[in-house]
Amino acid sequence: MDARSGRSADADADAARRTLAADLRGCRASTLALFRSLPPELFRRQLHPLYSPLGWHLGHIAYTEALWLLGGANAATTPDLRRAFAVDGLAKSERTGIPEAPEIFDYVARVRQATLVRLADPAAAIDLRLWRFVLQHEAQHAETASFLHALALRNPAPAAIAPDARPLDYVAVPGGRAAIGADGDDALDNERGAHAVAVPAFRLARHPVTQAQFAAFMADGGYARRELWSEAGWAWRRAESIERPFHWRADAPDHPVAGVGAHEAEAFCRWAGARLPTEFEWEHAARGLVVTLHCGNLGGQRHGTTEVGRFPAGRSADGADDLFGNVWEWTASNFAPYPGFRAWPYAGYSEAWFDGHHRVLRGGSWATRIFALRRSFRNWYVPETRQIFAGFRPARDL
Ligand code: AVJ
Ligand code: FE
Repeated sequence: MDARSGRSADADADAARRTLAADLRGCRASTLALFRSLPPELFRRQLHPLYSPLGWHLGHIAYTEALWLLGGANAATTPDLRRAFAVDGLAKSERTGIPEAPEIFDYVARVRQATLVRLADPAAAIDLRLWRFVLQHEAQHAETASFLHALALRNPAPAAIAPDARPLDYVAVPGGRAAIGADGDDALDNERGAHAVAVPAFRLARHPVTQAQFAAFMADGGYARRELWSEAGWAWRRAESIERPFHWRADAPDHPVAGVGAHEAEAFCRWAGARLPTEFEWEHAARGLVVTLHCGNLGGQRHGTTEVGRFPAGRSADGADDLFGNVWEWTASNFAPYPGFRAWPYAGYSEAWFDGHHRVLRGGSWATRIFALRRSFRNWYVPETRQIFAGFRPARDL
């Protein structure tokens, strides 16, 4: 190492710290804007049996930041706050007893003050990967708060939409050795390490299925025709009396359908003579795309879905639109470890969900923060999940 490369390594580290500081600020500004816009009386109400109250998500953002970034110097977290906001503190149903909104906001501010002091200290060792994990953790809980709020506002009996029964429009995606995964500071344990996977040429829908296209499936008896459904999907559909997507905007025929589970997505695909893409096909189709705030309906800027095809800056090499933002896209892939997987920073983050039941979703929704949006990012939920902002994009063999 000569002196010159030594200096440039320092300069790189400084630049990485500056980017981190800016990202922490940007992410926090959108988190606070979101939570300040939510009715405080909803902070301690459980809006869905599987989820914690809104205020818990805010407190848990701060708790997690303090846990990983402040370690032993975490004076902001009292035992009561730990009990309230740690994953192993209270049962979800007991989290209605968390502190009131002002106390949570106060905790959030105190933790952030302490972490910024650390970041500004040139003598403090900053594990970038850990800090960027915490940033993405915040981004993900902010999205959860967005869909929980949408759930509270949901119209349970929206009007129908005129069906669009035209054949789906597909783009051709050439086959090749797909570059899968990532190794940078942002890469989470489940997306490490970068590796190649052979993907044969295939066709991919130009955009996620719209509400009007989904209406054609419904008008054709899609929810009533056993032959379109997998065995598990049909059993679930019947047991839960599933008859239409969970989120539905009657005024928006050309917006992607949102709030469908993977079973509904698969039934639609069978009806359309298609299938869901694998997560590798999806990542390959998005090759070359770098996510910016202008390349799709993302980052929570627009408070809802938008019509498909509105963002030329996000068009893929093959002509596919809306890969990033608008709605998460279900894939055919189970959430499973890549070769050489190592759980980090704790087994409960990804490894606990490699259970053969969780499915990978790709791309991100309108509510996904830019810090958790990239080609290699893998989200995961069980196929029965409908309250998230998830749609799908059919694929076919060539
Ligand atoms: C990857 C979005 C499914 O919110 O349950 C947050 C991310 N893990 N805190 C979730 C997560 C721990 C996770 N998802
Ligand atoms: Fe969490």
